[in-house]
Amino acid sequence: MSIDRFADYLEAKRNADERARDTTTFGIFLGILRTFSRPSVLDVGTGTGAMARRVYDSLADNDAEITGIDTTGESIAIARLRAAENGFERLRFECRSVFDVDERRYIAITANSFVDEFPPRQLLRAFARHLAPGGIIYTSLTYNGRTEFWPRAADYDHEQIMLTEYDRSMDERTFEGVPVAGSRGAGRFLAEAERCGFEIVQFGGSDWCIQPENGVYPEGAATVLNGMVDFIANEATRRSKCDPKRTEAWRSIRRKQIQAATLRLLVHHLDAIVRITPEARRLLSEPG
Ligand SMILES: C[S@@+](CC[C@H](N)C(=O)[O-])C[C@H]1O[C@@H](n2cnc3c(N)ncnc32)[C@H](O)[C@@H]1O
Repeated sequence: MSIDRFADYLEAKRNADERARDTTTFGIFLGILRTFSRPSVLDVGTGTGAMARRVYDSLADNDAEITGIDTTGESIAIARLRAAENGFERLRFECRSVFDVDERRYIAITANSFVDEFPPRQLLRAFARHLAPGGIIYTSLTYNGRTEFWPRAADYDHEQIMLTEYDRSMDERTFEGVPVAGSRGAGRFLAEAERCGFEIVQFGGSDWCIQPENGVYPEGAATVLNGMVDFIANEATRRSKCDPKRTEAWRSIRRKQIQAATLRLLVHHLDAIVRITPEARRLLSEPG
């Protein structure tokens, strides 16, 4: 997918994410931040800045200082534009990696649709270096291994193979030679956080249930559905277990269903809050 199309996809996904976000977990996250004056928040893998804007807006009365970082310059340019359009002057964006840690320490880190792409231990180690003592990490909309479409596919068996291969493709990815959290990213990240001594504060489900309402999709839903159909079909075309003709037939039928506003999609995600402890900091500062 081109950068422009990926940025469009991220902007469209914002609405699906907001509908799915676990409001209990988000409320607890905001409640913790409201106990601080001028809480500092780092939004990692900010993309076009949707999560950073959401938190900024929700904490407008607390003078929160939010910094969004991403390695893609084009996304950062869009994020800056959207922040300026909204008059969010204390919202900053920087083009850099989560693994570039400077001297600033944050009360909270937010990571929306992000942690599944990295090995949990490496990411937790970087997070620990960004966090102030007692700081929290709010991970949201993290994929947790289940994607389903309705209506039932005409070629159901092939769709099942494609969905299995789609998840497998995430599980085969590595970062600096280490397997990433992958298709069960939310659960694996939480398990590793617990193993490293973080306190688990809260978690909740944030499944995308994307469907038409009175025959019409909500804003952005058709773009998200087209994106998901393409991610899955494009991955299938790279995999020997998926017959290319059957894949293209599947893509074509699913696209027509999106045009007719009849396709429904479930994607299982989790939201969670974990808090760093002195024990976690000590463990993660050890080499290895
Ligand atoms: C799935 S997107 C999510 C974007 C955004 N959080 C959202 O939900 O719309 C993941 C983002 O992580 C960014 N990214 C990848 N590697 C990164 C790194 N090492 N440090 C910071 N951002 C990174 C990508 O450029 C991409 O924008």
